[in-house]
Amino acid sequence: MPEPVRNAPVGMFDSGVGGISVLKEAMRQLPHEHFIFYGDTKNAPYGTKTKEQVLSLSRRVVETLLDKGCKAIVIACNTATSAAAATLRAEYADLPIIGMEPALKPASLLHQDGVVLSLATPGTIAGEKYAQLYALYGEGVVSLPCRGLMEFAERGELDSPALQDYLEKLLRPYREKKVEAVVLGCTHYVFLKQAIQRFFPSVPLIDGNEGTVRQLKRRLEALSLLAGEEQTGCAELLSSGGSGAIEQMRKLLNLN
Ligand code: DGL
Repeated sequence: MPEPVRNAPVGMFDSGVGGISVLKEAMRQLPHEHFIFYGDTKNAPYGTKTKEQVLSLSRRVVETLLDKGCKAIVIACNTATSAAAATLRAEYADLPIIGMEPALKPASLLHQDGVVLSLATPGTIAGEKYAQLYALYGEGVVSLPCRGLMEFAERGELDSPALQDYLEKLLRPYREKKVEAVVLGCTHYVFLKQAIQRFFPSVPLIDGNEGTVRQLKRRLEALSLLAGEEQTGCAELLSSGGSGAIEQMRKLLNLN
């Protein structure tokens, strides 16, 4: 890895567009950073692949980002964090690698005698990391592996009858229950917030984006790697899926 410099870019990746929701928050909190976001669209979804497959895909993306001189990496994907973060941290001992996890911890503060719904990919929910999190903060949590849900965000279908049908099947059993919080444990689901909120109008939907970026900021600060204020922040978008995929990411980045 080249000598890290404070104005070098921060690399960020996901299996596709989901991590753009993290990038937006990062640009808000860190307006002087140069971000390079890589969407591995060609290999999406990650959430139905084996841990080994996700690790080897993540490793490839990290190498691409390091070739571009990134000073830190944000895994803007719960699935890839679960499958690959520990190994990548061991392999790149000097590189700050920030990951994410489903926000069961903040959601647990809202739990009383009802249920907390945790929506994530099958891979995240089956992973060891999730089991550890669940052991600590799982009281009242119902875990819902959502095979096929990220694809709606990938297609830019943020509120369609087909999405409504999908969510109806998934969430109907909980409509009459006392739902205290819904955890959006996949970065793609952040773009589906409106459609999910319709099922539980006054229930908080919790994602890990803000906390992840706070953690990135803390790490950069501690290592004296925060970009200087003379630098104007920007985002560069890359994808294994070609120009159509980049266009889709740009659209979501500019969405209010
Ligand atoms: N956006 C990813 C996550 O946060 C995964 C989506 C997928 O590729 O299955 O888990």
